[in-house]
Amino acid sequence: MQKLPKPTEKKKKAEIKTPALETQRLILKEVNPKIADELFTTLSDNELMTFFGFTDPDDLRLEKFKWQNGMTTYRMTYKRFFLTEKATGKVFGSCSLHNWYPEHRRSELGYDINDETMKNKGFMKEAVKTVLTFGFEKMGLNRVEAFIGPANEPSLRIANRLGFTEEGRLREHYNKDGELQDSIVFGLLKPEYEKVKKTWTKE
Ligand SMILES: CC(C)(COP(=O)(O)OP(=O)(O)OC[C@H]1O[C@@H](n2cnc3c(N)ncnc32)[C@H](O)[C@@H]1OP(=O)(O)O)[C@@H](O)C(=O)NCCC(=O)NCCS
Repeated sequence: MQKLPKPTEKKKKAEIKTPALETQRLILKEVNPKIADELFTTLSDNELMTFFGFTDPDDLRLEKFKWQNGMTTYRMTYKRFFLTEKATGKVFGSCSLHNWYPEHRRSELGYDINDETMKNKGFMKEAVKTVLTFGFEKMGLNRVEAFIGPANEPSLRIANRLGFTEEGRLREHYNKDGELQDSIVFGLLKPEYEKVKKTWTKE
């Protein structure tokens, strides 16, 4: 495993303040490149596991690997939001706007829940609505895209229910557990978001 730079100064976890969005049942803690630097150079592995809501040390190793090897370039960056249940304080997943090209005003939507007991309770649909609103209204996005496996029923439902348009199919696009699978391409443009968001609150 690669060695991390030594923490320069021991701060307590509570001192690291992250901006956050809020939904009815969730707090969505923001992590961006600057915050990631602060987290990884300040917190211990145990504190990081708690912050990200990871239970498997491999998840933390992957997260460190991404941070060390860079998720940004001179023209591409990201914002990621960690889902925290208000009622329990439990962190159980993330929703991100990654591959964000500010110049082209587009970003890719991604999401994941790492606790089976938290799935199929409407949490991700709730989080994605708020993240999309932030993306279009605060990050200046004109287009959000998503690449979804043809058999990923819950994810396809989220894209369809939130007003994304199916735009095509990328063949053998994504390595899923060692198998190259197709991805269905979805896109949501700002004017479409403006129209569809009016229906979101009625659900
Ligand atoms: C995709 C994922 C984030 C969905 O999160 P979730 O909080 O369970 O989803 P929701 O409860 O908001 O449900 C969204 C929709 O999918 C439906 N759904 C949820 N689980 C389902 C399942 N196992 N099978 C079929 N439909 C399902 C819900 O009924 C809902 O449909 P509706 O809007 O018509 O009511 C979660 O399943 C997950 O983490 N999967 C693994 C990672 C992944 O696939 N990420 C996406 C990559 S593109």
